[in-house]
Amino acid sequence: MIKASQAYELLIEDVIYKKEDMFKPENKWVLHCVFTAIASQRIAQKLGLDSNRAMAMGYLHDIGRKISHPNHAIEGYKYLLNEGLKEEASICLTHSFIDNDITMTAGGGPETQEKYEYINNFLVNTPCTIYDNIVQMSDLFCLETGFTTMENRLLDISKRKGIYPNSLDHFKKAMSLKERLDTMLGCDLYDLFPEIKKEDKERINEDRNELMTLLSNPQKKL
Ligand SMILES: [Fe+2]
Repeated sequence: MIKASQAYELLIEDVIYKKEDMFKPENKWVLHCVFTAIASQRIAQKLGLDSNRAMAMGYLHDIGRKISHPNHAIEGYKYLLNEGLKEEASICLTHSFIDNDITMTAGGGPETQEKYEYINNFLVNTPCTIYDNIVQMSDLFCLETGFTTMENRLLDISKRKGIYPNSLDHFKKAMSLKERLDTMLGCDLYDLFPEIKKEDKERINEDRNELMTLLSNPQKKL
């Protein structure tokens, strides 16, 4: 695994030329990667794991957005393979699918049969590691503006992208992943992130209930 600093350099290469570029609307995804990297590092460190590895994977998980937003998972994977980074490339395909299960994703999942098969063939042959889980979790509560709760983020995603038949199961899976990490950490994962706004934390139950109601009435949006 490359150093986190190298992963960051690769992330911003050909995208961020000067400091101000980081705040351009089209580069919001880069800041999301930065926060995902910080969150992944923090969780790994608390778990006594390799925090450099977690941070590097956090930086790289959405790198395919350099090439294509809708196809960022596959494009990111190919991009890193092309850079000779096979081990690093994996997170591009695993980060959106909790426990490397193709059905456990937000936004419905791969839109075409071809994409579905490409990603699924990879996932079924790739055992999920704790590092995959850490980035999968961090991706769910990191925005381009910082940290929030996954309840808040998933509510936002559901309102923006619509509700899909797998959305309820995905939310339940996301909650069980967080519970698993809480147990491993010996504390509430959100306690590692005092930066999360007080109102977001206070709204967790409300957001959770709103999500459960929304997701229990699936209406596929194409
Ligand atoms: Fe992401």
